Amino acid sequence: MEHRAFSSKVIYQIYPKSFMDSDGDGLGDLGGIIRKLDYLEGLGADLLWLTPVFPSPQRDNGYDVADYCAIDPRFGTMADMEELIRQSGSRGMGIMLDMVFNHTSTSHPWFQKALAGEKEYQDYYIFREGPPDRCPTNWQSKFGGPAWEYLPALKKWYLHLFDVTQADLNWDNPRVREELKNVIRFWKDKGVQGFRFDVINLVSKPEVLEDDFTGDGRRFYSDGPHIHEYLKELVRDTGIGDMVTVGEMSSTSLDNCIRYSSPQEQELSMCFNFHHLKVDYAHGDKWSLMEPDRMALKELFRAWQLGMQDGGGWNALFWCNHDQPRIVSRLGDEGRFRTESAKMLAASIHLMRGTPYIYQGEELGMTNAHYQDISQYRDVESLNYYRILLDQGKTWEEALGILAARSRDNSRTPMQWSAGQNAGFTAGTPWIMVIDNYPAINVENQKADPQSVYGFYKKLVALRKEKTVISHGRIAFLEEENPDVLAYERTLGDGTGAGVDSKKQIPEGRSGLKEDQHLVVLCNLTARDITIPAAPAWAGYGKLLGNYEGAPKFTGDKAERDSGRYTAGGGYLVLRPFEVVVLEQGAS
Ligand code: GLC
Repeated sequence: MEHRAFSSKVIYQIYPKSFMDSDGDGLGDLGGIIRKLDYLEGLGADLLWLTPVFPSPQRDNGYDVADYCAIDPRFGTMADMEELIRQSGSRGMGIMLDMVFNHTSTSHPWFQKALAGEKEYQDYYIFREGPPDRCPTNWQSKFGGPAWEYLPALKKWYLHLFDVTQADLNWDNPRVREELKNVIRFWKDKGVQGFRFDVINLVSKPEVLEDDFTGDGRRFYSDGPHIHEYLKELVRDTGIGDMVTVGEMSSTSLDNCIRYSSPQEQELSMCFNFHHLKVDYAHGDKWSLMEPDRMALKELFRAWQLGMQDGGGWNALFWCNHDQPRIVSRLGDEGRFRTESAKMLAASIHLMRGTPYIYQGEELGMTNAHYQDISQYRDVESLNYYRILLDQGKTWEEALGILAARSRDNSRTPMQWSAGQNAGFTAGTPWIMVIDNYPAINVENQKADPQSVYGFYKKLVALRKEKTVISHGRIAFLEEENPDVLAYERTLGDGTGAGVDSKKQIPEGRSGLKEDQHLVVLCNLTARDITIPAAPAWAGYGKLLGNYEGAPKFTGDKAERDSGRYTAGGGYLVLRPFEVVVLEQGAS
């Protein structure tokens, strides 16, 4: 059995700008979060991850930080942050802050001093000399265009892997690493309970920067040369080894994530990786649409779940965040089966091995924005790519169609609290348009309805705390050749490993192993009925959870079907559209 203090925790992600506005300026704020703490406690969240609320020009909605140890007045004051930490603490919830350490805003005093010619601060960033008409390397920015910007006054280029106003820090300079440690110490002293590290696996660049003739440069700096060394140093020197820490890992590998998150390495608690969210990128390109490749999705889950389990690493489990379109619009169904598919998708990851994250509104089954006009978009990446797509010869209808599927603004629309004005988010004019389905999809409706998506998330959160097989058990996959069904089992028991080998049937008579806990999770990823063979080992199992009322649709004999228990040694289970069935040994 694995002992990780955080394995039964669930983390809720707040995008403060779009969560709740307490002062009517159309932007969410810390006061708004404080007002909603009862809601978050009711859901069962343990930690609240806030995306950046530090002073920032907001070119990239706060991921362009101008001061790491202060609060942007748009979001409130330091006193508000202290109050939020205090009030969430008294409800048993911790605050997790977002540390954006790959880059600073070019408005940050360090960059300003570098611009003014101070050599000491130029060493904080990645400057290169060179002719003004030729970038030092051909690397591409992740938001489109070259990753270098020329400063005529200094006759130097600086590196920016993201927006031109987000200058990459030079982690090879020990002074930079010391400055960043002080930021962590500052917030740790304020009482925050966890940290999320933004694109942390990009911070270690190679000593010699060279052109990339096969890609956009990422292979040189993703999981770069000194990354493990730097992370160990950061964690050791700030004493955050016992806190909950998660690294956002861009274009990473399983081997590196095992190292980032296995306890003996003393780096981080867990990692976000994004491979499973690229299964609908044609040729790996975010801006080329295709139907999701479900087989690829299943294979990725299998590889990462088993790989992290065998290597002793730990996954952050998530579908949604502030950079991803809404999952119900992407892999589920926004129409007839919205509720069913939102619940199935929730269960599919919450019952895996790792720590689940819920992104605001996901617990309601919120959908994509369906904006029709470029003026409705706010995100720098979306606006850049709109231009790039037009330059590539796409019509504006085509470009808007791509943004509608891929824009990060899909997840940044205001939280839908009620059917009232602006979905109850603000009394003013929201900074980004509310989705017009808020009268039907909102917190107020769903809290009153135990069958709602919200009610289902609440159950999932509670189950993780109740069942050690979910928080601590091993995982093995079933139905591996079937593209339509994601299926796995979780086992906690006597250490025989029975049930862990996914190729083997679970031996009958396992119920004799009294210590064992065993769950089977079966998810229909499609809008059709899918029939799968029912394993004899499910004899005596009952339904622990599902998104259809009543008994699972076994095609055994009638008495069994009616009782919801399956006791025969053969037969089939029909999974209805987007159905999830969770069977548990001994449940009734
Ligand atoms: C991460 C953030 C994203 C941001 C980028 C640059 O991917 O999640 O929102 O734009 O880093 O900081």
